Amino acid sequence: MKGIVLAGGKGSRLYPITVSTSKQLLPIYDKPLIYYPLSILLLARIKEILIISTPDDIDQYKKLLKDGSHLGITIEYAVQEKPRGLADAFIIGEKFIGKDNVCLILGDNVFYGQYLSGTLKEAANIQEGALIFGYPVKNPKEFGVVQFDEKYNVISIEEKPEKPKSEYAVPGIYFYDNDVVEIAKNVEPSARGEIEITAINNEYLKRGKLSCLPLGRGMAWIDTGSPEGLLQASNFVSTIQSMQGFYISAIEEIAWRKGFISDNQLYEIGYLLRQTEYGKYLMSLIEDKI
Ligand code: DAU
Repeated sequence: MKGIVLAGGKGSRLYPITVSTSKQLLPIYDKPLIYYPLSILLLARIKEILIISTPDDIDQYKKLLKDGSHLGITIEYAVQEKPRGLADAFIIGEKFIGKDNVCLILGDNVFYGQYLSGTLKEAANIQEGALIFGYPVKNPKEFGVVQFDEKYNVISIEEKPEKPKSEYAVPGIYFYDNDVVEIAKNVEPSARGEIEITAINNEYLKRGKLSCLPLGRGMAWIDTGSPEGLLQASNFVSTIQSMQGFYISAIEEIAWRKGFISDNQLYEIGYLLRQTEYGKYLMSLIEDKI
């Protein structure tokens, strides 16, 4: 399974913050926003990753994450010339995806919770069809909305409906078989002029190949598309980290725990950042082991 992080867009709901910088590089407490979705791909054991961003911003991502070898993974980069819609990720990523299945995660989505690793590992094993998630929210109108029957079979899925048929939003992480590339190429632009991920999900639904897993209340999902979302996510990360002592979405830690990098490699990364709490945390993971 390959992984794509979509980190483009105008970020216009965050102006003036994002006039001169990319939204997915903004800090969520102590790390750049993109660390959070990237950590989710690592938890799913996805090691071949494509980051898509704008022509203006792509070099900043290369500077931050390089070729991924320090995390024991490979990271490639691609440009999206214009924000044509989320489905564009599969058209831009066609060569990268090749004959594999693929997971798309939006660069501004933060996930945290118990059993997340197991759920993701299971999802990354899908052989056929599409797998999405449903998460109860107070404001479903602002998202893709999924409606299911009592056995969690999907009945409908709508993009930002005026009258939502359920309170379940579809978070920005999607697992697909290889058909997604052909499907994406045939998606017609919506009323807002974008090729929508919801149109892809509807095509899988029509083919009887769309599954949806509901995420429970014990899981946190934060869409950081607004100043409030950014602050909520920062407060959340800061609170959990200071109470537990464990870091959320420290990508180097996850790469180490998954066995992608050695003790020495992790320690070296921590040592370079030793003036920060983040660096000290990474070093302490090794020191505590000795
Ligand atoms: O966050 C989950 C929601 O994401 C889903 O529930 C919706 O079904 C889905 O359409 C999407 O809705 P948003 O309105 O949040 O999408 P937005 O246009 O904000 O784009 C999401 C991220 O993807 C954002 O960080 C910018 C980036 N993006 C967006 C577009 C349209 C791109 O990189 N390229 C694009 O062409």
